[in-house]
This record gives sequence, structure tokens and C-alpha cells, in this order.
Amino acid sequence: MKHLLKLADLSQEEITGILNLADQLKYEKRNRIPHHRLEGKTLGMIFQKSSTRTRVSFEVGMYDLGGSALFLSSRDLQIGRGEPVEDTARVLSRYLDGIMIRTFAQQEVEDLARYGSIPIINGLTDYCHPCQVLADLMTIREHRGAIAGNKLCYIGDGNNMANSLIVGGITMGMTVAVACPKGYTPDKEIMAWAEKTGRFLCTEDVLAAADGADVVYTDVWASMGQEGEAQKRQAVFAGKYQVNAAVMDAAKPDAMVQHCLPAHRGEEITAEVLEAHAAEIFDEAENRLHAQKAVMVLCMEKN
Ligand code: CP
Ligand code: NVA
Repeated sequence: MKHLLKLADLSQEEITGILNLADQLKYEKRNRIPHHRLEGKTLGMIFQKSSTRTRVSFEVGMYDLGGSALFLSSRDLQIGRGEPVEDTARVLSRYLDGIMIRTFAQQEVEDLARYGSIPIINGLTDYCHPCQVLADLMTIREHRGAIAGNKLCYIGDGNNMANSLIVGGITMGMTVAVACPKGYTPDKEIMAWAEKTGRFLCTEDVLAAADGADVVYTDVWASMGQEGEAQKRQAVFAGKYQVNAAVMDAAKPDAMVQHCLPAHRGEEITAEVLEAHAAEIFDEAENRLHAQKAVMVLCMEKN
């Protein structure tokens, strides 16, 4: 594996390989078995948006692997003042062994990979959030024993999370149903691809999407960069696109709940559902660390 730019670049076998290594690294960490597989290597972490989980899990992950991580805020980098990405990519490739980037345009991530000569890992764009969905798939497998054959329903905005969940879920053999309001549906090309598999549904009907679901997923109504639309979005989503008791009644009795976090209680999820499923949701947050360590090892160990 050279980069992690988006999940659509990975096969079912490759994703399974990442999850298997993630399980192994989790076991080793729990049992204090050292795994300095990136000794002496440095990861640069470029952030054009805020982060708690992504920043901390990548930084701790590099430390666990015997390397180090450098936090690079775009507020301080010349990229924030307009230095072209093709120059930034070539310069940083001379200093670092890998780059994790969180930004707006997917194209910027693709361009870093194109012009640089080191592994690039996507830590979230407006288009997708592959690291998060690898952790989600790991958590689903942990809690349900398998991924294939489960039904995942996603309720809310057709955003970066929805896009990555559709690609990751379908690739791994799940059925994926998304409930989104008109005008807020996921990426058209991703939906067209998913529809061809016969294991995808996009509807405005929240209970139809949740019907018989094994995994219930949601995310914020307004993502980072959409703060100006928050009020307009409230009016569209409020009282309708929420994971609550009625949604959980429609899902399987033993359904699990996932949320990438941060969560807005009372908006996309009720406080009651979040707390009732806190064990699964915080396992999911923890698994960011293990899944990303696996990605870093697979991308950076041999480079
Ligand atoms: N889920 C997630 O990516 O969280 P952060 O924004 O805190 O990194
Ligand atoms: N859709 C959210 C995910 C945050 C992890 C955002 O982009 O802000």
C-alpha cells in the first residue's frame, strides 16, 4: 500500500489486511509488547481544520511505533499563504517519511501524492474520511464477529462520512442504507457505484433505512467548513434526521450505534441513545489509534 487517499482505492483483501494488522497492534499494545516498526521515521501532520481524535491518535500512534510526529498547522505553514501544493509536496518529501493531511479539497490530497515522493494519508477532506471508516469497520468486526452480511444504516447529512461508509461498507460485503434529506444526499458517483451492487438504498425515510439494521450510524448536520449554513441545516434536519428511540426500535434489538464524534446531543443523536451505546462509540474512537497505526506501518515501513 502506497498511500491512503480514499477507500475506493482499496480492495476487500487490502482492507481486511489493514484490519488484521490493526487487531494485532491493539493486542500488542494491550499486552505491552513493543512494536517499533517505524523506528526513526517522522510523520508530518498538516491540519487545515480542527481535530481531537485524528491529531492525538496519529501522534500517539507514531510514538508507539518508535517514530515521531510533527504537528503542522496550516495557519503557520506557507501553504496557508498560497505556496503551491506541488512545491510543498516536494519540499516535505525531503524531510519526512510520510504525511497525514486534513483539509477541504480532496484534490489537494491527491496532488500531494502526485507531486511528493512519500506516503500520503488522508485525515479527512470534504469528500471522505477513510481513517475513520477503517476504525468503524474494525469496531463492527469486534462487536459483531464479522462485517459481511450486516446491514448498516446512516442517518443524516450525505457528507464525507456517508461517502466513506458507503464505499467501505459495500466493499466489505455489507448492505448500506442512508437516510438523507433532499439536496443533502451523498456523492452521486459513489451512489451510482453502490446501486450497481444491489446492496444500497438512499431514502428520505429514516425508519425505512433503519429497518432491521445491525449498525446505526450518524454524524453532525453541519460539518467543518459549513458553520455558515448551520442554521439553514437545523431547519432541514431537526426533528427528522436523528438517531433516537424510534430509530433504535426499527433496527435489530441488538443493533450497535456508531458515531465518528464530535457528537451534538439532541441534534443528530439523543443523549439517551449515545449513553446507552457509549461502550461501542468509545471503542470506535479508540480504534482510530490501532487502525491508523496499521495504515502507517503498511504505507511507511518499507519506504
Ligand atoms: N472523528 C474525528 O475525525 O475526530 P476529530 O475531528 O476530533 O479528529
Ligand atoms: N462530517 C464531520 C466529520 C468530523 C469527524 C466534519 O467533516 O466535520
